[in-house]
Amino acid sequence: MILIKNATLITASEIFEADVLIQGEKIAQIGRELTVPGATILDARGKFITPGGVDPHTHFDLPMFGTVSSDDHYTGHKAAAFGGTTTVLDFVSLDFPTLHQSLAAWQEKAKKAAIDYSFHMNLTRWNESLAQELPWLVEAGMPSIKVFTAYNGRLRLGDKEIFAAMQIAQKHGILVMAHCENGDVIETLVEQALAAGHTAPEWHARTRPAWGAVEAGLRLAGMAAVSGATLYIVHMNAAGEVDMLRYARERGVRIFGETCPQYLFFTEDHLRRPDGAKWICSPPLRTAADNARLWEGLKEGLIDVIGTDHCPFFYDGTKPILYEGRAVAIPGKELGAGDFTKIPNGVPGVQDRLPLLWTYGVRAGRITPHQFVALTSTNPAKIFGLYPRKGALLPGSDADLVIWDPERRLTYGVAYSHQRTDYNLYEGWELVGYPEKVFLRGRLIVDGDRWLGEQGMGRFIPRRPLVA
Ligand code: URP
Ligand code: ZN
Ligand code: ZN
Repeated sequence: MILIKNATLITASEIFEADVLIQGEKIAQIGRELTVPGATILDARGKFITPGGVDPHTHFDLPMFGTVSSDDHYTGHKAAAFGGTTTVLDFVSLDFPTLHQSLAAWQEKAKKAAIDYSFHMNLTRWNESLAQELPWLVEAGMPSIKVFTAYNGRLRLGDKEIFAAMQIAQKHGILVMAHCENGDVIETLVEQALAAGHTAPEWHARTRPAWGAVEAGLRLAGMAAVSGATLYIVHMNAAGEVDMLRYARERGVRIFGETCPQYLFFTEDHLRRPDGAKWICSPPLRTAADNARLWEGLKEGLIDVIGTDHCPFFYDGTKPILYEGRAVAIPGKELGAGDFTKIPNGVPGVQDRLPLLWTYGVRAGRITPHQFVALTSTNPAKIFGLYPRKGALLPGSDADLVIWDPERRLTYGVAYSHQRTDYNLYEGWELVGYPEKVFLRGRLIVDGDRWLGEQGMGRFIPRRPLVA
């Protein structure tokens, strides 16, 4: 038993002083002046406690463009834990004929899990046998799929296929997640850009217009309205998507929205830097006006979740870095030197999310401490059927908690990062407040700079389907 004394607990709705008793893997009691004979006492005076972060959007060990995202299900989990996240939801690639086979392959990779996890299924093909198999995702404890309106010839489904999947999803309580961009417009603009000799990273953004994200989002919201499916728009990046979300929700569509830190903090100007490839992700970064509207959407409670879309690649994968004492080099962004379409898409962020949002969200007055907890932990736990086991500081919940040192000041960057890549988007940013101790199911896995977790200790957490 561990008794954490005198902490300030922050939840999605309250801030209060209390002691927390951890018994085994669970929170056993929360109250004032608890005394428990035999318990190990941890004095947390002056510290905050939040529930462990839930990141519903990661891509570990994801093959792309002849390489692979550079964090696997161990290194990415470890990085997440250092940043205060204790549960991650990763996307299964539909690499095999059936959902069963594709999931089995991802489960194999995730055997090295160091924190708790679940999966979503990428639905990137459509046929009668997949349609028959889809309801099995509920039985498998992962009732969520992701569909794509972009990545022509690779991941995209047609509207008719998406609508068919939505009808089945609605019937079985499966959440439909959507990557919204206009694949045809992108294909045309990319062909034209390359023909005109435009190969620099900024053309990644110039060929993927925000209008495509907005119209695809509204199109799918319309299909959700007609099918009755529940829709979750991933990685919202454009101001118009916030308006679209409001429009659909006001008309009774069951719709959730997620954004990610990169869409709040950076713009397409970053792609014009000499090292612009570091910021290549899809959808692309937009403008300062888009950043501002997304912040408003968070403040107004329109956007429900901040995930990361963590999908890291080395900036220069020809030069090894040291990770846990071993030299590692994985081909990365340099693959697209001379052709922006060959730059692996994705950015690191699974460790950065909570500390960045604490300093530049809460301390900067853009969101409240409650919104911080709701957006990064409680809401994703609720939406994805994990609450109150995850995302809560309640008796009976898993003892996943983060003890923050609110006074810790650091100049952030790759030196602090356990993400297995050679750069950090927030290099040199000043942070105030950082996770000091992180517990996963009652076990201390991060203690200051020390890693106490291990490969294989993370568990697959079965999730509940949506209820009507
Ligand atoms: O650039 C990104 N986001 N890569 C990961 C795949 C996706 O679409 O989320
Ligand atoms: Zn996506
Ligand atoms: Zn993604």
